[in-house]
Amino acid sequence: MNKLILVNLKMYQSTKEEVDNYLNNLKESPVIFFPSVIYLEKFINHGFVCGCQNISINDPGAYTSEISAKSIKDMGAKYVLLGHSEIRQNLSETDESINLKIKKALDNNLKPILCIGENYEEYTQMMTKIIIKRQIEKALKDITEEVIISYEPVWAIGTGKTPTNNEIEDILNYIKSLFNYDVKVFYGGSVSKDNINELNKIKNVDGFLIGKAGLDTSSLEKIIEVVSK
Ligand code: PGA
Repeated sequence: MNKLILVNLKMYQSTKEEVDNYLNNLKESPVIFFPSVIYLEKFINHGFVCGCQNISINDPGAYTSEISAKSIKDMGAKYVLLGHSEIRQNLSETDESINLKIKKALDNNLKPILCIGENYEEYTQMMTKIIIKRQIEKALKDITEEVIISYEPVWAIGTGKTPTNNEIEDILNYIKSLFNYDVKVFYGGSVSKDNINELNKIKNVDGFLIGKAGLDTSSLEKIIEVVSK
């Protein structure tokens, strides 16, 4: 498999004009976009493969403000990001609710991408493997279908800091050793046009999850160019 690039556009874009300009500036690209759900249909209609940044644990029903996996699938999305640290932190997402959402995604034929990673304190205390093993075990409890993992150290997201290539390679190997299938594992956290040459040397990485740098189409193109070489 060629390496994949996922772009998590978070809640960065906030007007139709901004999104239209972004889409018009993008060349056809082998990237999977996770736009704000409001703009998901626009990206899909533009021909891009897309995913959603979150889904409800519930089936369609009386759940004000929530978005069902069924509606996301019906809109044409293929993936769903689950367990992102911003949702764990800001919306009190737990490994248990992530587990329910992964099941819901699979029931609706959406491919779940499970985000895992340690915070800075855990990193300095060398607890990364303990933390991610626990996150994986709880989030994937009673799930036998294949999922995708994105390793995103919390302290690397949006900070401009990244672990060393050796550290990432070691953690990715560890994650892969926890699965009985050839699990795809991405790296995310401050990936940019300036560090992608270096990060792309990591031998066992299956792709990158990009946040802020994906918002700038010229940076994104540079990243695509390096990764698809
Ligand atoms: P970042 O975000 O690239 O802006 O650090 C990555 C992510 O949150 O997925």
